[in-house]
Amino acid sequence: MKRFIVGSNWKMNSTVEESLSRIDKIEELLGDFKAFPIFILPPFTSLDAVSKRLQNRWIKFGAQNMHWETAGAYTGEISAPMLKELGCKYVMLNHQERRVYFNETNRTSNAKLHTAFSFMLQPILCIGEEDRASFSKTKNFLEHQLSELLDGLKPEEIGRILFAYEPLWAIGESEAAPADYIEQVHKIIRDKLSTICGPEIAKKTFIIYGGSVDLDNALDIALQTDVDGLFIGRAGLEPEKFVTIIKAVY
Ligand code: G3P
Repeated sequence: MKRFIVGSNWKMNSTVEESLSRIDKIEELLGDFKAFPIFILPPFTSLDAVSKRLQNRWIKFGAQNMHWETAGAYTGEISAPMLKELGCKYVMLNHQERRVYFNETNRTSNAKLHTAFSFMLQPILCIGEEDRASFSKTKNFLEHQLSELLDGLKPEEIGRILFAYEPLWAIGESEAAPADYIEQVHKIIRDKLSTICGPEIAKKTFIIYGGSVDLDNALDIALQTDVDGLFIGRAGLEPEKFVTIIKAVY
């Protein structure tokens, strides 16, 4: 069994009650499954209750976003110390939906990455092109995006990032990106990481795939050599599906 991790981004779904009952169901279906790490990213409003429910449990959790400043006049925002206080292990940054709907950029995500490391939060860094284009265009896009996002980070920090390749054109669709395409892109990402922080770190860095992962494509994608995990949206809201995928890729 290769190293692997599976996570789910719940996006703007679930009241506190719904979050807790989904966790209970997932834990019940998982039984004593401990083959690889699993994480969930509930909405902010559920984090406190989720934190209490998941204390000392196998499933880890994190937040879907945060501000780069640690406090101040930023109405409606959430800071790294607030997430740390709730016991978050992860913070997701640079999700395509944040870029498209909330104008987030490589520059703001880079600032957030620096803050995340100051507070010992492990970043889940989403990367990926917007349109399905030629392979060379995608390569250029990703190389440029990685250079900007990782600017000023230490190699060992880069090695702690969980990279999530999520092409915008495959999110919320009926089909994921083709498995062989994902494999090629993950190789591009790893090669670029190798030039930024050296081959040793790049080899160990986790690169997971997200975008319409479901029962019918999870195994194919998981079997690709350079895919170290799956990042699930809609299918993660259904405990039966989520746990079936987890057990299928094991
Ligand atoms: O972060 C994961 C997400 O963007 C994928 O969503 O619904 O296409 O699996 P979905």
